[in-house]
Amino acid sequence: MAKPTKATTIFTCSECGATSPRWLGRCPSCGQFNTMAEEIVKPAVKNETTAKSVYSLQAKPLKEISYERYERVSSGVSEFDTVLGGGIVPGSLVLLGGDPGIGKSTILTQIAAHLSKAHKVLYFSAEESCSQVKMRCDRLGVGGENMLLVNATCIDGLEEQLKGVEFCVIDSIQAVYTDEMSSSSGSVGQVRECATKLMRIAKSQNITFFIIGHVTKEGALAGPKVLEHVMDTVLYFEGENQENYRILRAVKNRFGNVSEVGVFEMTGEGIIPVTDYSGIFLSESRGEEAGCAVTPAQTGNRCMNVEIQTLINRTAFGQPRRMSLGVDYNKLALLLAVLEKRCNLHFSSQDVYINVMGGIKLNEPATDLALCAALASAYFERPIDKYTAVFGEVGLTGEVRAVQYAEKRVSECVKMGFKRVLLPAKNLKSVAKYADKISIVPVLYLGTMLKSLFPKEQ
Ligand SMILES: Nc1ncnc2c1ncn2[C@@H]1O[C@H](COP(=O)(O)OP(=O)(O)O)[C@@H](O)[C@H]1O
Ligand SMILES: [Mg+2]
Repeated sequence: MAKPTKATTIFTCSECGATSPRWLGRCPSCGQFNTMAEEIVKPAVKNETTAKSVYSLQAKPLKEISYERYERVSSGVSEFDTVLGGGIVPGSLVLLGGDPGIGKSTILTQIAAHLSKAHKVLYFSAEESCSQVKMRCDRLGVGGENMLLVNATCIDGLEEQLKGVEFCVIDSIQAVYTDEMSSSSGSVGQVRECATKLMRIAKSQNITFFIIGHVTKEGALAGPKVLEHVMDTVLYFEGENQENYRILRAVKNRFGNVSEVGVFEMTGEGIIPVTDYSGIFLSESRGEEAGCAVTPAQTGNRCMNVEIQTLINRTAFGQPRRMSLGVDYNKLALLLAVLEKRCNLHFSSQDVYINVMGGIKLNEPATDLALCAALASAYFERPIDKYTAVFGEVGLTGEVRAVQYAEKRVSECVKMGFKRVLLPAKNLKSVAKYADKISIVPVLYLGTMLKSLFPKEQ
Protein backbone atom coordinates (compact mmCIF):
# COMPACT_ATOMS: atom_id res chain seq x y z
CA MET A 1 0.00 0.00 0.00
CA ALA A 2 1.28 3.46 -0.88
CA LYS A 3 2.29 5.53 2.15
CA PRO A 4 -0.05 8.52 2.68
CA THR A 5 1.53 11.84 1.79
CA LYS A 6 -0.79 13.85 4.04
CA ALA A 7 -2.55 13.10 7.31
CA THR A 8 -5.57 10.89 6.75
CA THR A 9 -7.94 9.17 9.08
CA ILE A 10 -8.74 5.51 9.35
CA PHE A 11 -11.02 3.55 11.62
CA THR A 12 -9.54 0.93 13.88
CA CYS A 13 -11.42 -1.68 15.88
CA SER A 14 -10.64 -1.26 19.58
CA GLU A 15 -11.15 -4.99 20.14
CA CYS A 16 -9.12 -6.68 17.41
CA GLY A 17 -7.24 -3.86 15.70
CA ALA A 18 -8.78 -4.37 12.23
CA THR A 19 -8.80 -1.20 10.13
CA SER A 20 -11.21 0.23 7.63
CA PRO A 21 -11.20 3.48 5.59
CA ARG A 22 -14.83 4.14 6.59
CA TRP A 23 -16.75 3.96 9.82
CA LEU A 24 -18.63 0.71 10.29
CA GLY A 25 -21.17 -0.18 12.93
CA ARG A 26 -19.86 -3.71 13.20
CA CYS A 27 -16.27 -4.80 12.86
CA PRO A 28 -16.07 -7.16 9.87
CA SER A 29 -13.14 -8.98 11.44
CA CYS A 30 -14.25 -9.80 15.00
CA GLY A 31 -17.96 -9.07 14.69
CA GLN A 32 -18.11 -6.68 17.68
CA PHE A 33 -20.52 -3.76 17.46
CA ASN A 34 -19.58 -0.13 17.93
CA THR A 35 -15.86 -0.66 18.32
CA MET A 36 -14.54 1.22 15.27
CA ALA A 37 -12.73 4.37 16.43
CA GLU A 38 -11.25 7.10 14.29
CA GLU A 39 -7.49 7.43 14.20
CA ILE A 40 -5.12 9.82 12.45
CA VAL A 41 -2.41 8.39 10.24
CA LYS A 42 0.34 10.92 9.78
CA PRO A 43 2.87 10.45 7.00
CA ALA A 44 6.15 9.30 8.45
CA VAL A 45 8.70 12.11 8.33
CA LYS A 46 11.98 10.56 7.47
CA ASN A 47 14.67 13.08 6.75
CA GLU A 48 18.34 12.96 7.51
CA THR A 49 18.22 14.48 10.97
CA THR A 50 15.60 12.08 12.32
CA ALA A 51 17.39 9.16 10.71
CA LYS A 52 20.59 10.27 12.37
CA SER A 53 19.03 10.69 15.78
CA VAL A 54 17.43 7.27 15.57
CA TYR A 55 20.58 5.49 14.65
CA SER A 56 22.81 7.35 17.08
CA LEU A 57 21.07 5.90 20.15
CA GLN A 58 23.49 5.52 23.02
CA ALA A 59 22.98 3.39 26.06
CA LYS A 60 24.36 4.79 29.34
CA PRO A 61 25.20 3.09 32.62
CA LEU A 62 22.71 3.83 35.39
CA LYS A 63 25.28 5.64 37.56
CA GLU A 64 25.76 8.29 34.87
CA ILE A 65 22.09 9.16 34.74
CA SER A 66 21.20 12.28 36.65
CA TYR A 67 17.78 13.68 37.43
CA GLU A 68 16.36 16.77 38.97
CA ARG A 69 14.70 16.38 42.32
CA TYR A 70 11.18 17.62 42.08
CA GLU A 71 9.64 19.80 44.73
CA ARG A 72 6.04 18.94 45.39
CA VAL A 73 3.57 21.83 45.43
CA SER A 74 0.69 21.91 47.88
CA SER A 75 -2.77 22.12 46.31
CA GLY A 76 -4.13 23.92 49.38
CA VAL A 77 -6.49 21.00 50.08
CA SER A 78 -4.77 18.72 52.57
CA GLU A 79 -6.67 15.52 51.72
CA PHE A 80 -6.01 16.04 48.00
CA ASP A 81 -2.29 16.32 48.70
CA THR A 82 -2.40 13.12 50.74
CA VAL A 83 -4.03 11.17 47.90
CA LEU A 84 -1.46 12.52 45.43
CA GLY A 85 1.27 11.19 47.69
CA GLY A 86 2.25 14.42 49.44
CA GLY A 87 1.48 17.20 46.96
CA ILE A 88 1.43 17.95 43.25
CA VAL A 89 4.43 16.83 41.20
CA PRO A 90 5.21 19.55 38.62
CA GLY A 91 4.75 18.41 35.04
CA SER A 92 2.42 15.55 35.89
CA LEU A 93 -0.93 14.66 34.37
CA VAL A 94 -3.70 14.10 36.88
CA LEU A 95 -7.03 12.71 35.75
CA LEU A 96 -10.04 13.21 38.02
CA GLY A 97 -13.03 11.02 37.23
CA GLY A 98 -16.43 10.97 38.86
CA ASP A 99 -20.20 11.08 38.45
CA PRO A 100 -21.87 14.31 37.30
CA GLY A 101 -22.51 16.73 40.16
CA ILE A 102 -20.10 15.00 42.51
CA GLY A 103 -17.93 18.13 42.73
CA LYS A 104 -15.07 17.68 40.26
CA SER A 105 -15.27 21.22 38.92
CA THR A 106 -15.74 22.55 42.44
CA ILE A 107 -12.62 20.97 43.92
CA LEU A 108 -10.45 21.86 40.93
CA THR A 109 -11.70 25.46 40.98
CA GLN A 110 -10.71 25.64 44.64
CA ILE A 111 -7.29 24.19 43.90
CA ALA A 112 -6.73 26.38 40.83
CA ALA A 113 -7.66 29.48 42.83
CA HIS A 114 -5.26 28.51 45.59
CA LEU A 115 -2.42 27.81 43.15
CA SER A 116 -3.01 31.08 41.30
CA LYS A 117 -1.82 32.99 44.38
CA ALA A 118 1.76 32.02 43.61
CA HIS A 119 1.69 30.49 40.11
CA LYS A 120 0.26 31.17 36.70
CA VAL A 121 -2.84 29.01 36.33
CA LEU A 122 -5.15 28.50 33.36
CA TYR A 123 -8.67 27.10 33.71
CA PHE A 124 -9.79 25.71 30.35
CA SER A 125 -13.52 25.31 30.64
CA ALA A 126 -15.25 23.52 27.81
CA GLU A 127 -18.41 22.80 29.76
CA GLU A 128 -19.18 26.10 31.43
CA SER A 129 -18.85 29.73 30.37
CA CYS A 130 -16.25 32.00 31.98
CA SER A 131 -18.98 33.83 33.90
CA GLN A 132 -20.24 30.53 35.33
CA VAL A 133 -16.73 29.73 36.57
CA LYS A 134 -16.43 33.20 38.08
CA MET A 135 -19.81 32.80 39.73
CA ARG A 136 -18.61 29.57 41.29
CA CYS A 137 -15.40 31.21 42.51
CA ASP A 138 -17.47 33.96 44.14
CA ARG A 139 -19.84 31.45 45.72
CA LEU A 140 -16.91 29.45 47.08
CA GLY A 141 -15.19 32.64 48.21
CA VAL A 142 -11.85 31.51 46.88
CA GLY A 143 -10.74 34.65 45.06
CA GLY A 144 -8.48 33.43 42.32
CA GLU A 145 -8.25 36.89 40.71
CA ASN A 146 -5.05 35.96 38.90
CA MET A 147 -6.46 32.77 37.45
CA LEU A 148 -6.73 32.81 33.65
CA LEU A 149 -9.97 31.54 32.14
CA VAL A 150 -10.68 30.23 28.66
CA ASN A 151 -14.03 29.04 27.43
CA ALA A 152 -13.46 26.93 24.33
CA THR A 153 -13.87 23.40 23.12
CA CYS A 154 -11.07 23.10 20.56
CA ILE A 155 -7.70 22.47 22.17
CA ASP A 156 -5.64 23.16 19.07
CA GLY A 157 -4.97 26.75 20.17
CA LEU A 158 -4.25 25.79 23.75
CA GLU A 159 -0.48 25.53 23.40
CA GLU A 160 -0.13 29.24 22.59
CA GLN A 161 -2.15 30.18 25.67
CA LEU A 162 0.18 28.19 27.89
CA LYS A 163 3.19 30.54 27.78
CA GLY A 164 4.48 30.74 31.33
CA VAL A 165 1.57 28.72 32.70
CA GLU A 166 2.51 26.17 35.37
CA PHE A 167 -0.86 24.58 36.11
CA CYS A 168 -3.76 23.99 33.77
CA VAL A 169 -7.23 22.56 34.43
CA ILE A 170 -9.13 20.94 31.53
CA ASP A 171 -12.86 20.68 32.25
CA SER A 172 -13.47 18.13 30.72
CA ILE A 173 -11.62 15.77 28.38
CA GLN A 174 -14.90 14.50 26.91
CA ALA A 175 -15.98 18.02 25.95
CA VAL A 176 -12.83 19.05 24.06
CA TYR A 177 -11.82 18.13 20.53
CA THR A 178 -9.01 18.55 18.08
CA ASP A 179 -9.59 19.64 14.48
CA GLU A 180 -7.35 16.89 13.19
CA MET A 181 -10.21 14.47 13.60
CA SER A 182 -13.70 14.61 12.20
CA SER A 183 -15.41 12.57 14.90
CA SER A 184 -17.37 14.42 17.56
CA SER A 185 -15.93 15.30 20.97
CA GLY A 186 -16.19 12.55 23.55
CA SER A 187 -15.65 9.80 20.97
CA VAL A 188 -12.92 7.26 21.61
CA GLY A 189 -10.63 8.70 18.91
CA GLN A 190 -11.03 12.31 20.05
CA VAL A 191 -10.41 11.51 23.72
CA ARG A 192 -7.31 9.51 22.89
CA GLU A 193 -5.90 12.16 20.54
CA CYS A 194 -6.60 15.04 22.94
CA ALA A 195 -5.10 13.13 25.89
CA THR A 196 -1.91 12.32 23.98
CA LYS A 197 -1.67 15.93 22.85
CA LEU A 198 -1.94 17.16 26.44
CA MET A 199 0.65 14.64 27.53
CA ARG A 200 3.09 15.89 24.92
CA ILE A 201 2.59 19.49 26.09
CA ALA A 202 2.89 18.51 29.76
CA LYS A 203 6.12 16.62 29.32
CA SER A 204 7.78 19.05 26.91
CA GLN A 205 6.89 22.26 28.78
CA ASN A 206 6.70 20.91 32.33
CA ILE A 207 3.10 22.00 32.84
CA THR A 208 0.89 20.18 35.32
CA PHE A 209 -2.51 19.26 33.92
CA PHE A 210 -5.58 18.45 35.97
CA ILE A 211 -8.00 16.78 33.61
CA ILE A 212 -11.63 16.11 34.46
CA GLY A 213 -13.06 12.90 33.02
CA HIS A 214 -16.62 11.63 32.95
CA VAL A 215 -17.52 8.14 34.02
CA THR A 216 -19.85 5.65 32.41
CA LYS A 217 -22.99 4.28 34.06
CA GLU A 218 -20.89 1.41 35.41
CA GLY A 219 -18.52 3.87 37.09
CA ALA A 220 -15.48 3.40 34.85
CA LEU A 221 -13.84 6.33 33.12
CA ALA A 222 -15.53 7.00 29.78
CA GLY A 223 -13.34 6.70 26.71
CA PRO A 224 -10.43 4.53 25.73
CA LYS A 225 -8.18 2.74 28.20
CA VAL A 226 -5.26 4.71 26.76
CA LEU A 227 -6.64 7.75 28.58
CA GLU A 228 -5.61 6.13 31.88
CA HIS A 229 -2.35 4.84 30.42
CA VAL A 230 -1.00 8.26 29.47
CA MET A 231 -1.82 9.77 32.87
CA ASP A 232 0.61 9.86 35.78
CA THR A 233 -2.16 9.82 38.34
CA VAL A 234 -5.78 8.70 38.02
CA LEU A 235 -8.17 9.74 40.77
CA TYR A 236 -11.80 8.86 41.32
CA PHE A 237 -14.15 11.10 43.18
CA GLU A 238 -16.97 9.05 44.67
CA GLY A 239 -19.85 9.33 47.05
CA GLU A 240 -23.61 9.30 47.13
CA ASN A 241 -25.14 12.47 45.76
CA GLN A 242 -27.62 12.56 48.61
CA GLU A 243 -24.94 12.27 51.24
CA ASN A 244 -22.48 15.04 51.80
CA TYR A 245 -19.40 12.89 52.15
CA ARG A 246 -17.10 12.34 49.20
CA ILE A 247 -14.21 9.94 48.90
CA LEU A 248 -11.22 10.62 46.69
CA ARG A 249 -9.27 7.56 45.71
CA ALA A 250 -6.19 7.04 43.57
CA VAL A 251 -6.34 4.06 41.22
CA LYS A 252 -3.02 4.81 39.56
CA ASN A 253 -0.20 6.94 40.85
CA ARG A 254 3.33 7.13 39.52
CA PHE A 255 4.37 9.29 42.48
CA GLY A 256 2.69 7.72 45.47
CA ASN A 257 0.70 5.02 47.17
CA VAL A 258 -2.62 4.08 45.54
CA SER A 259 -4.31 2.81 48.66
CA GLU A 260 -4.55 6.32 50.10
CA VAL A 261 -8.05 7.80 50.31
CA GLY A 262 -9.19 11.34 51.03
CA VAL A 263 -12.47 12.15 52.75
CA PHE A 264 -14.32 15.37 51.99
CA GLU A 265 -17.54 17.05 52.89
CA MET A 266 -19.56 18.89 50.24
CA THR A 267 -20.96 22.14 51.57
CA GLY A 268 -22.36 25.33 50.08
CA GLU A 269 -18.92 26.89 50.54
CA GLY A 270 -17.27 24.14 48.53
CA ILE A 271 -15.48 20.97 49.37
CA ILE A 272 -13.90 20.75 52.79
CA PRO A 273 -11.42 18.04 53.78
CA VAL A 274 -12.62 15.94 56.69
CA THR A 275 -9.85 15.32 59.17
CA ASP A 276 -11.97 13.74 61.88
CA TYR A 277 -13.27 10.80 59.86
CA SER A 278 -13.66 8.53 62.88
CA GLY A 279 -17.44 8.16 62.96
CA ILE A 280 -18.20 8.47 59.26
CA PHE A 281 -18.01 4.81 58.41
CA LEU A 282 -20.05 3.60 61.37
CA SER A 283 -23.85 3.47 61.52
CA GLU A 284 -26.16 4.83 64.22
CA SER A 285 -27.81 1.48 64.87
CA ARG A 286 -24.53 -0.33 65.43
CA GLY A 287 -24.85 -2.96 68.15
CA GLU A 288 -28.64 -3.16 67.89
CA GLU A 289 -29.12 -4.99 64.61
CA ALA A 290 -27.70 -8.38 63.66
CA GLY A 291 -25.32 -8.62 60.70
CA CYS A 292 -22.96 -5.73 61.46
CA ALA A 293 -19.29 -5.90 62.40
CA VAL A 294 -16.65 -3.21 62.78
CA THR A 295 -13.08 -3.59 61.56
CA PRO A 296 -10.13 -1.22 61.77
CA ALA A 297 -9.18 -0.98 58.09
CA GLN A 298 -5.87 0.29 56.86
CA THR A 299 -6.16 2.50 53.77
CA GLY A 300 -2.87 3.99 52.70
CA ASN A 301 -1.23 5.57 55.70
CA ARG A 302 -4.30 5.82 57.86
CA CYS A 303 -6.39 3.44 59.82
CA MET A 304 -10.13 3.89 60.22
CA ASN A 305 -12.91 1.88 61.77
CA VAL A 306 -15.33 0.74 59.11
CA GLU A 307 -18.60 -1.10 59.55
CA ILE A 308 -19.52 -4.08 57.36
CA GLN A 309 -23.23 -4.83 57.09
CA THR A 310 -24.74 -8.06 55.85
CA LEU A 311 -28.24 -9.21 55.19
CA ILE A 312 -29.30 -12.81 54.82
CA ASN A 313 -32.61 -13.82 53.37
CA ARG A 314 -34.16 -17.16 52.42
CA THR A 315 -33.82 -17.68 48.68
CA ALA A 316 -37.29 -17.40 47.23
CA PHE A 317 -36.61 -19.07 43.94
CA GLY A 318 -33.77 -20.85 42.17
CA GLN A 319 -30.13 -19.97 42.72
CA PRO A 320 -29.26 -18.04 45.89
CA ARG A 321 -28.16 -14.47 45.22
CA ARG A 322 -24.88 -13.03 46.43
CA MET A 323 -24.28 -9.30 46.16
CA SER A 324 -21.40 -7.35 47.59
CA LEU A 325 -20.66 -3.64 47.66
CA GLY A 326 -17.24 -2.58 48.88
CA VAL A 327 -15.90 -6.14 49.19
CA ASP A 328 -14.63 -8.32 46.39
CA TYR A 329 -17.31 -10.75 45.21
CA ASN A 330 -14.89 -13.68 45.02
CA LYS A 331 -13.74 -13.00 48.57
CA LEU A 332 -17.35 -13.22 49.73
CA ALA A 333 -17.88 -16.52 47.93
CA LEU A 334 -14.68 -17.90 49.44
CA LEU A 335 -15.51 -16.90 53.01
CA LEU A 336 -19.05 -18.28 52.69
CA ALA A 337 -17.54 -21.61 51.64
CA VAL A 338 -15.12 -21.56 54.60
CA LEU A 339 -17.92 -20.76 57.07
CA GLU A 340 -20.06 -23.54 55.64
CA LYS A 341 -17.37 -26.20 55.65
CA ARG A 342 -15.41 -25.34 58.81
CA CYS A 343 -18.12 -23.91 61.07
CA ASN A 344 -21.28 -25.60 59.80
CA LEU A 345 -23.13 -22.40 58.92
CA HIS A 346 -25.31 -23.15 55.89
CA PHE A 347 -25.73 -20.41 53.35
CA SER A 348 -26.63 -22.53 50.32
CA SER A 349 -30.33 -21.70 50.49
CA GLN A 350 -29.82 -18.09 51.58
CA ASP A 351 -29.41 -14.87 49.62
CA VAL A 352 -26.45 -12.92 50.99
CA TYR A 353 -25.99 -9.16 50.65
CA ILE A 354 -22.93 -7.24 51.84
CA ASN A 355 -22.45 -3.51 52.12
CA VAL A 356 -19.56 -1.51 53.51
CA MET A 357 -20.65 1.75 55.13
CA GLY A 358 -19.84 5.08 53.59
CA GLY A 359 -19.00 3.71 50.14
CA ILE A 360 -15.49 2.72 51.15
CA LYS A 361 -13.86 -0.26 49.44
CA LEU A 362 -12.13 -2.88 51.55
CA ASN A 363 -9.63 -4.99 49.72
CA GLU A 364 -7.08 -5.99 52.32
CA PRO A 365 -7.11 -9.55 53.73
CA ALA A 366 -7.26 -8.19 57.29
CA THR A 367 -10.99 -7.53 56.88
CA ASP A 368 -11.80 -11.25 56.34
CA LEU A 369 -12.49 -12.00 59.98
CA ALA A 370 -14.88 -9.06 60.37
CA LEU A 371 -16.71 -10.14 57.22
CA CYS A 372 -17.11 -13.63 58.72
CA ALA A 373 -18.25 -12.11 62.02
CA ALA A 374 -20.88 -10.02 60.23
CA LEU A 375 -22.09 -13.04 58.24
CA ALA A 376 -22.29 -15.20 61.36
CA SER A 377 -24.11 -12.44 63.24
CA ALA A 378 -26.71 -12.27 60.45
CA TYR A 379 -26.93 -16.08 60.38
CA PHE A 380 -27.55 -16.39 64.14
CA GLU A 381 -29.60 -13.19 64.17
CA ARG A 382 -27.57 -11.96 67.09
CA PRO A 383 -26.05 -8.50 67.11
CA ILE A 384 -22.38 -8.03 67.94
CA ASP A 385 -21.65 -5.73 70.83
CA LYS A 386 -21.31 -2.08 69.83
CA TYR A 387 -17.85 -1.72 71.32
CA THR A 388 -16.28 -4.79 69.73
CA ALA A 389 -13.95 -4.62 66.73
CA VAL A 390 -12.60 -7.55 64.73
CA PHE A 391 -9.68 -7.98 62.35
CA GLY A 392 -7.60 -10.83 60.89
CA GLU A 393 -7.04 -12.82 57.74
CA VAL A 394 -8.94 -16.09 57.28
CA GLY A 395 -7.36 -19.05 55.50
CA LEU A 396 -9.20 -21.80 53.65
CA THR A 397 -8.68 -24.18 56.55
CA GLY A 398 -10.43 -21.77 58.89
CA GLU A 399 -7.27 -20.63 60.65
CA VAL A 400 -6.85 -16.95 61.46
CA ARG A 401 -3.59 -15.53 60.15
CA ALA A 402 -1.52 -12.62 61.37
CA VAL A 403 -1.92 -9.30 59.56
CA GLN A 404 0.09 -6.13 59.08
CA TYR A 405 -0.27 -2.99 61.20
CA ALA A 406 -1.88 -4.81 64.16
CA GLU A 407 -0.57 -2.21 66.58
CA LYS A 408 -1.97 0.68 64.59
CA ARG A 409 -5.35 -1.00 64.32
CA VAL A 410 -5.62 -1.67 68.05
CA SER A 411 -4.51 1.86 68.82
CA GLU A 412 -7.30 3.21 66.54
CA CYS A 413 -9.84 1.03 68.39
CA VAL A 414 -8.60 2.38 71.72
CA LYS A 415 -8.85 5.94 70.42
CA MET A 416 -12.43 5.36 69.25
CA GLY A 417 -13.50 4.01 72.63
CA PHE A 418 -13.88 0.34 71.71
CA LYS A 419 -13.78 -2.06 74.66
CA ARG A 420 -12.91 -5.36 73.03
CA VAL A 421 -10.91 -6.36 69.97
CA LEU A 422 -10.66 -9.83 68.42
CA LEU A 423 -7.41 -10.33 66.54
CA PRO A 424 -5.12 -13.09 65.23
CA ALA A 425 -3.34 -14.89 68.07
CA LYS A 426 -0.07 -14.43 66.21
CA ASN A 427 -0.41 -10.66 66.48
CA LEU A 428 -0.85 -10.78 70.25
CA LYS A 429 2.76 -9.99 71.11
CA SER A 430 2.89 -6.70 69.24
CA VAL A 431 -0.27 -5.34 70.87
CA ALA A 432 0.31 -6.57 74.44
CA LYS A 433 0.99 -3.01 75.63
CA TYR A 434 -2.67 -2.06 75.05
CA ALA A 435 -3.94 -4.80 77.37
CA ASP A 436 -4.83 -2.35 80.15
CA LYS A 437 -6.82 -0.09 77.80
CA ILE A 438 -8.84 -2.62 75.82
CA SER A 439 -9.75 -6.28 76.21
CA ILE A 440 -7.72 -8.21 73.67
CA VAL A 441 -9.10 -11.56 72.52
CA PRO A 442 -6.61 -13.64 70.52
CA VAL A 443 -8.20 -15.90 67.91
CA LEU A 444 -6.51 -18.92 66.35
CA TYR A 445 -9.43 -20.41 64.41
CA LEU A 446 -12.66 -19.12 62.96
CA GLY A 447 -14.54 -21.33 65.42
CA THR A 448 -12.81 -19.60 68.36
CA MET A 449 -14.09 -16.25 67.13
CA LEU A 450 -17.64 -17.55 66.86
CA LYS A 451 -17.39 -18.93 70.40
CA SER A 452 -16.28 -15.57 71.78
CA LEU A 453 -18.86 -13.55 69.88
CA PHE A 454 -21.84 -15.90 70.06
CA PRO A 455 -21.31 -18.11 73.14
CA LYS A 456 -24.96 -19.20 73.23
CA GLU A 457 -24.95 -20.54 69.68
CA GLN A 458 -21.87 -22.71 69.94
N1 LIG B 1 -25.45 27.56 44.02
C1 LIG B 1 -25.10 26.47 44.68
N2 LIG B 1 -25.15 26.42 46.01
C2 LIG B 1 -24.75 25.34 46.70
N3 LIG B 1 -24.29 24.24 46.13
C3 LIG B 1 -24.19 24.21 44.80
C4 LIG B 1 -24.57 25.30 44.00
N4 LIG B 1 -24.35 25.00 42.72
C5 LIG B 1 -23.86 23.75 42.71
N5 LIG B 1 -23.75 23.28 43.97
C6 LIG B 1 -23.26 21.95 44.36
O1 LIG B 1 -22.16 21.62 43.56
C7 LIG B 1 -22.39 20.37 42.95
C8 LIG B 1 -21.90 20.37 41.52
O2 LIG B 1 -20.53 20.40 41.56
P1 LIG B 1 -19.65 20.39 40.25
O3 LIG B 1 -18.29 20.65 40.73
O4 LIG B 1 -20.24 21.29 39.23
O5 LIG B 1 -19.83 18.88 39.79
P2 LIG B 1 -19.14 18.16 38.57
O6 LIG B 1 -18.19 19.09 37.95
O7 LIG B 1 -18.50 16.97 39.21
O8 LIG B 1 -20.25 17.74 37.68
C9 LIG B 1 -23.85 20.11 42.98
O9 LIG B 1 -24.11 18.74 43.17
C10 LIG B 1 -24.32 20.91 44.15
O10 LIG B 1 -24.35 20.09 45.29
MG1 LIG C 1 -18.27 20.05 36.11
